[in-house]
Formats: sequence, C-alpha cells, structure tokens
Amino acid sequence: MSEGAGDWWRRTTIYQVYPRSFQDSDGDGIGDLRGVIDRLPYLADLGIGTVWLSPFFASPQRDFGYDVSDYTAVAPEYGDLATARELIDTAHALGMRVVLDLVLNHTSDEHPWFLESASSRDNPKADWYLWHDGRGRGGRRPPNNWKGPLDLRTAWRWSETRRQWYLASFLGFQPDLNWRNPEVRAAMFAAIRFWLDLGVDGFRLDVFGWIMKDPAFRDNPLRPRLGGGDVIRLRDRVFTEGTPDNVVLAQDLRAVVDEVDGADDRMLVGEVFGGPAKVRSYLGDERRPGLHLVFAFDLLEFRFTARFVRETLERYEREFPAPSLPATVLENHDRSRVMDRVGGDERKARVLAMLLLTMRGVPTLYQGQEIGMRNTYLPLRGALDPFGREVLPWMPEWISRRIPERINRDEVRTPMPWDGSAGAGFTTSAHPWLPLGPESGVRNVAVQEADAGSMLHLVRDLVRLRRDRPELHSGSLRLLPAEGDVVAFAREHEGRALHVVLNMGPREALWPGSGDILRATGPGAEATAAGIRIPACTGVALVE
Ligand code: GLC
Repeated sequence: MSEGAGDWWRRTTIYQVYPRSFQDSDGDGIGDLRGVIDRLPYLADLGIGTVWLSPFFASPQRDFGYDVSDYTAVAPEYGDLATARELIDTAHALGMRVVLDLVLNHTSDEHPWFLESASSRDNPKADWYLWHDGRGRGGRRPPNNWKGPLDLRTAWRWSETRRQWYLASFLGFQPDLNWRNPEVRAAMFAAIRFWLDLGVDGFRLDVFGWIMKDPAFRDNPLRPRLGGGDVIRLRDRVFTEGTPDNVVLAQDLRAVVDEVDGADDRMLVGEVFGGPAKVRSYLGDERRPGLHLVFAFDLLEFRFTARFVRETLERYEREFPAPSLPATVLENHDRSRVMDRVGGDERKARVLAMLLLTMRGVPTLYQGQEIGMRNTYLPLRGALDPFGREVLPWMPEWISRRIPERINRDEVRTPMPWDGSAGAGFTTSAHPWLPLGPESGVRNVAVQEADAGSMLHLVRDLVRLRRDRPELHSGSLRLLPAEGDVVAFAREHEGRALHVVLNMGPREALWPGSGDILRATGPGAEATAAGIRIPACTGVALVE
C-alpha cells in the first residue's frame, strides 16, 4: 500500500448521487443520467473529487436498482450506454472521478440468469445461484436457519419448479449468486471489465461481506445481541456474513481492476460490516492487496458529544493506521439524515460537517447533505421501498415514526431540491416518483447559493479547503488537549499544521490555544489573548 501518483482516492471527497432523485431531465418525474450530466458543474464547483452513482443498470426497480437484471445495460428511464459514457467523459473533463455501485451478492429474480437457473435442476445455469434441497417431508422446510435482514424470516425461498430452495439474503426478489461457481465469477468479472473499459474509476461494492457464504451451509449459532442500527439480532451471522473467503474475493477483485491500463489508478470501496479487525481485513495485505477503502459507519450512529467524537477519532487512529484510511460517512440512501438525528439543529449539523471534512479519512457526502436536507416522514403503509414494505407487518406505525432509524428508506430518498419552483428544479412533472420534502421551497440550493452564511457555502468552503490543503487530505491526525465539551485535533503534514476545535456543548467555551481562525461553522468565534472563544455548537479551523 505505497503512496503513489495513482493514489488519488486517498485525497478525494466522494459525493453519492442517487440518480432517481437527483435531476430529472425529461419530465417523467424520475431522475436520469442526462440530469446528472447537467448537474456535474455544480459538483465540480462544490470541490468534489469523486462522484459515486447508485445503480442505474437495467432493473425491474423493485429495490430501485439494487436488483439488477443486466449489469452492462442502462435502465431506459435513466438513459442509455451512450449517455453513461458521456457522463463519465464529462466528469473527467471537469476533473472528477466516477465510481459505480456494484451489486455482486445478488441479482434481480428477473435477471435472465436466474430465470434460466430456476427453470430446471439441470439447465446450464442450474448452479449459478445458491440452490439447496429442503428438510422435512417433501423438503418443504428451509435447508437451514439462515435469516433475511432483521432476522424476521428465513432467507430461503421455495421454487415450485425445481422443488428446491434458493437463498435470497436481502429480499425475496434478490436471489444470491453462487460465487463459488467459476462461470459466475467470470461473468461478473466481465461486467466489471466492461465498465472499466468505458473509463469508470472504480466501484462501491454493495454488501460486500455477504457474498461468500459457508460452503457447508451450517446453521448460524443462536446468540442474541444488539446489531447495527440498534436492532436486536438473535443469531450470530458467522456463516453468512464476513467469512474469510470474502477477503480472498476482495483480493481477486483487486487483481481484476489492477489488470487494466493505468493499474493502481482504480478504486474499490466496500460496504462492509463488522468489528475493526474484520473490516480492516478486506484491505488485504502487502502481498495481496484487497479493497482500497472500506466504509466506517460509526458516524452514521453518532452521539453529539465530545466524548463520542474523541473516542471515534482515537479508534480510527488505532484501527486504520496510516497508510490505511477509513471512508467516513454521516448519511447515505439507507439511513437517517443528519439534520434529523440532531433534532433539526443546523448548528450541530454544521459542526459534524466540519468534523467529517477535516478528520483523517475519505469523506462521503450524500446528495442534499450539503444543504442540510431533512428526512421526509412517509408512512410505512405507502412505502415504495421494498424494505419498508417487508418490515410493515412487524412494525406498528407509531414505533416506526418514533425510532431514529428510518425503516421506510423513501424518507431519505426524496428529490433533491434545487430551487423554489413547483418541481423544486428537480422535475417539470407534477408527479415526482417520491414527493418533494416539505422544506423544498425554503431549503434548496438556489436559496443557499444566495446566502453567504448558508450550510451550502460552509460545506463548499470545507470541501475545497480539504482539497487544497495537504494537512487535511494527506496529513496525520493528533488529538490535542481539550476539556469538557470541546474536541481539538491537529492535522499535520510536512511541518505544516491545521488545528480543528469543535465546541459540542450548549455553552460558550474557551480553548486555551492560539491561531488565526480560517473557517468557522457559525458566527461569533474569536481569537483572544486567553485563547479561542467558541460559541455553543460551533467548530473552528485554525492556522498558526
Ligand atoms: C445495500 C444498499 C441498499 C440495498 C441493499 C441490497 O445495503 O445500500 O440500498 O437495498 O444493499 O442490495
């Protein structure tokens, strides 16, 4: 893992585009690739280095693209291959990289591979998915105790035609591929090479740790505990998630992306879960490198306290020692928006934006985060999100409404508000695929462009500061002494230092250090003889 010219991904800031909700260019109420192309100058101006696009491949859209039916075709409502190529070229011309979202674990059940696989027990693709005989009389009981998300039901689905079960670890219409079959690997690697040839700079890998399951299909052991997102898990998922074979797959994938021209110029970032050792293992080792980056999801479930931030920074220094780096994230298309986690207090969202964009790691912004976009509460009953619908029978609306996690992910996927017009500048249609958020008229890009004190201006300032300052994109991180509700750290690079001081408390604080205030998340901070005076819920970046 040496530092070289191809290491652009170390210094980049990623922006996640959810194409369906970013920009509609043809008035059908659904975002599309032409719309993304039109908005690329906005992203370049924001200082973004890498655009990650959620899946736009051919798909029945039951999980809005995370159910692919053709990995090398574009869904017609999003455009076509020529438009995808134009998008990649335009981004490159603006100095940005493009990362696509690869769903390797499963396909749609409408993928021709699955239709063929499910048609009989002896067709040429019979072994492309994870088929298994059932237990009990007639094999009508699932093969083992593997469960779907939230442990709500079996992960196996019955096929009357084959009189067998197939595994669908996420939702029933997303059958898991059999990655132990060399033909499956070859087909998926071919799809990866197809996009690399088109010029993409890398991939975000969907649920990467789920891909290689226990080949003996052993039962997962019973061990109740708290899983991610404060959900209770009854079983340990040792045989279905994070098996060591996934690390080998990471290394094999790395070899595929390194094989193209300009090797070491592509980036793989994995959506992986688990403890520090597990998550880090996907990076491989000197001899056989794996993924370039893995997401560290701790900040998604932050507590707004100095202690939480201090502990997280300390932990990342231990778990991701240089040259490794965490890919840091506060929001994505699956989880609650920050503004709602902080009860609508924009001062706090700004402090967290400063943290994300000044800490060591590769920051990812989710579309709308830069304007402090909020969740839009939408009842589970009307959910388009299949995950929301899956959970509906188990989750009373009043609970879903109160818990911090959004079960109906539609709530975090409403269209990007660009301006105060009827369709928020997102669409000319009177019927966007999801409703516009209630704040679209007042909290949108145009309003914030016009206001130098807005969240958008702050985020843009910080993204550019990070891009332009080696201390921030390449420096080390060292915690500095600070008391109470204050966290302070130094970012240092080749003898130059930048200090970041965050007052996360409800009262003004005096940090007994010095420096000139380069940026502040809000008004009122000042350098005095006694130290830096920082108002409540405010962060500052300082230079000597
Ligand atoms: C990942 C994606 C999510 C998708 C799921 C199944 O968690 O982020 O949106 O529904 O995988 O592919």
